Amino acid sequence: MENSLKTTWIQSKEKLGQYRISLLNWFDEQRRDLPWRQDPSLYKTVVSEFMLQQTRVSTVIPYFTNWLNKFPDFYSLNQADEKDVLKAWEGLGYYSRARNLHQLSKTAANWKHPPVSVKEWQTLPGVGPYIAAAVTSISLDQPEAVCDGNVVRVLSRLFAISEIFKDGATAQKKLRPLAQKLINSGRPGDYNQAVMELGATVCHRSSPLCSTCPILSYCESGRQGDWADRPQIARKAKKTASIRRYWVESQSSLLVHASKKNRLQGVYELPDKLPYSGNFTDLNSQVLAIRKRTIGRVEYTEEIHQPPQIPLLPDPLPQGYTWMKWSELENFTLSGPHRKWIEELRD
Ligand code: ADE
Repeated sequence: MENSLKTTWIQSKEKLGQYRISLLNWFDEQRRDLPWRQDPSLYKTVVSEFMLQQTRVSTVIPYFTNWLNKFPDFYSLNQADEKDVLKAWEGLGYYSRARNLHQLSKTAANWKHPPVSVKEWQTLPGVGPYIAAAVTSISLDQPEAVCDGNVVRVLSRLFAISEIFKDGATAQKKLRPLAQKLINSGRPGDYNQAVMELGATVCHRSSPLCSTCPILSYCESGRQGDWADRPQIARKAKKTASIRRYWVESQSSLLVHASKKNRLQGVYELPDKLPYSGNFTDLNSQVLAIRKRTIGRVEYTEEIHQPPQIPLLPDPLPQGYTWMKWSELENFTLSGPHRKWIEELRD
């Protein structure tokens, strides 16, 4: 890859400068009016970047606004109960992000001055190379390039990179040094946001809007018309899995379960095992619904079963299980798909 770059405009200081100006001028005119860009602060940048990792901008906006109303700064977040933090994250998925952000606020609430180096940021919970570079460039003016999926797409096309990357994470790691060469150290945060914004709004995965692209004249794939082939990321086979879920309703309540161990700590779902002590067999249970959802590369088929009669369950229920009164449905933190299914299936 380095070889293929030797002959490009990136070797010319003047052209590199012009490229940066073209991109930043476009960003100054076209930047989206996103809530974390209004009256920006370190806290807003940290929260938005935690939310934006793995989630698209349009999904994040209402969550971000609600979060800022509930937890306006690191101090209030630090004071909050984990239960309320998870509730505010309900539906965004990847709940470890919320727990890590909550943990981070415990350190941040005591900062006299926040750390400025990516190295120090990466010692904080949930902060990897992407969040460290995003936060230090956007809020602390450090010349640290971000390299997320959008940046990979833009760079792969800009330089017609034909290397086949094993997966998205490998592509991000390998292309970060190139992103670093391109960054404008005068306005690093705006530069990073400009490349991500270009990837999100112009350099689409399919049907990119090349005719409106501010850096088309620098783009090798735009010239060759081979954008569809970039980036080249090996497709991993999708896996499938089945899960049986149980719908047990009794006395205006529904049985739900939150795992203690996995990524869903504190987030309730329909149980996949009954804490059962009687002689009910699955054989004559009724399938209420079959639902599909994809997590990462696995497509799950979840069969929701209703036992023919309310099984005899231990009292008190084992740890993790609880009866959710219908009147408390709004207050519980349920995983996004499970809330939807429960609301659909409730009589
Ligand atoms: N994607 C993730 N963070 C972003 C930001 N700050 N601006 C634009 N797109 C983004």
